[in-house]
Amino acid sequence: MNLSIVGTGYVGLVTGVCLAERGHNVVCIDVDRSKVDMINAGKAPIHEAGLPELLSRNIGRRLTATTDLARAVHDSEVTFIAVGTPAVDGRIDLRYVEAAAAEVGQALRDKGSYHALVVKSTVIPGTTDTVVRRSAERASGKKAGEDFGLGMNPEFLTEGRAIEDFTNPDRIVLGGIDERTHDVLSAVYASFTGVPRVFTNNATAEMIKYAANSLLATMISFTNEIGRLCSAVGDVDVVDVMRGVHQSLYLTTRQLGREPVTASIASFLEAGCGFGGSCLPKDVTALAAQGEQLGVPTPMLRATLEVNAGQPDELVALLSRHFPSLNQVRVTVLGLAFKPDTDDLRESPAFPVIRRLRSAGARLTAFDPIARPHNHPDLQGVRLASSLEDSLHGAEAVVLVTRWAEFNRLPQLLAGSKVLVVDGRRVLDRNSFGAYEGIGWRRASTSGSEQ
Ligand code: UGA
Repeated sequence: MNLSIVGTGYVGLVTGVCLAERGHNVVCIDVDRSKVDMINAGKAPIHEAGLPELLSRNIGRRLTATTDLARAVHDSEVTFIAVGTPAVDGRIDLRYVEAAAAEVGQALRDKGSYHALVVKSTVIPGTTDTVVRRSAERASGKKAGEDFGLGMNPEFLTEGRAIEDFTNPDRIVLGGIDERTHDVLSAVYASFTGVPRVFTNNATAEMIKYAANSLLATMISFTNEIGRLCSAVGDVDVVDVMRGVHQSLYLTTRQLGREPVTASIASFLEAGCGFGGSCLPKDVTALAAQGEQLGVPTPMLRATLEVNAGQPDELVALLSRHFPSLNQVRVTVLGLAFKPDTDDLRESPAFPVIRRLRSAGARLTAFDPIARPHNHPDLQGVRLASSLEDSLHGAEAVVLVTRWAEFNRLPQLLAGSKVLVVDGRRVLDRNSFGAYEGIGWRRASTSGSEQ
């Protein structure tokens, strides 16, 4: 089929590259000419495992990029909208989605053949059938469900493994205004055999996406709350507690004579310094805001956000057990990306941690193996180290924020030293360091200190 995709962010580009790999002819559209040129030159504008290979294999063959939206819409049967939906005061800003729908509508005005407009951006339930529909109908002078199709097909891509997630999806959710839209979307995904499909209306498809992310975020905050209780009790380690919880039959599959297989949702039951990224914080906030707008209280979503907002304070409190004043203390923050294997800094817990340490007067160094922040407002006055070794020079304390595999070298690099290690992800062996504190664990002692 001939497909077009508006927006070449990580969702739009991954979708485009993967659908081209499946044999479709795909045109990726972006207003940013330099990004379009880069993609046409076979260079990936973002760091995503497997993307460079798929891009170079398909570009110029089944995949091209352009700034010419009208042409791309004319030459395709389906257009996906995959533009950003930034958060403004907790609500999502639909400006770009609305503008994209209007532009596609404009192009549909003089298009003779049937076309389906499909929203892929994460949008608040109800958006496709209201904002997007209105915008496209007004610009095209046509009617959704009669003259053109209108669908909603949320993505379930995890950054860092987005290509793998797209290639081997666990489910495909296909929202549509009518049967014809469902049929078109079925044809797009025809080669994904054996994958469960949920055919539904547009608002349900939108809600599935929000409910899925809210569940993950709630599980993380739940574990972090248990972690706080564990460290307050003393000698109770949240890692052991959750290992015990993970063994529940609810979270494992067992076959006689085989090792139990843990459900991957259990990986959202690990204590840490909180969730970040472009999806979880924004989606939970936006859903709670919609509840407020509808007059429906959302105490669970609110609590999920509240616990998360408090996790950076937990890290600072662990440091303060060893340094009653952090003024002039040399602290190294390890990890800036919101999670490993990505260079994405959006809503990373590293920044609230850095802000708190800076206002306490600490002298800060930061290191991330891949993320290269330029002029980030929270990094003013922070020394950016060029390597893990470099970041440790002169450090009195190290705070691990992101679970990068490279940080497993810390025991070796800090062998014999008294540098305090604060483990914000519970990935290090606490017995490997002279001084250690970790989220969700505290040795019960009269002094209350590990040292
Ligand atoms: C998330 C979802 O996992 C995807 O299913 C969804 O499609 C995507 O959002 C989206 O809406 O597009 P992503 O934000 O890329 O994916 O990253 P996750 O791996 O889910 O991590 C989110 C945050 O939670 C990270 O900051 C991570 O460090 C944190 N986390 C995760 C914890 O703090 N504890 C855990 O136990 C697990």
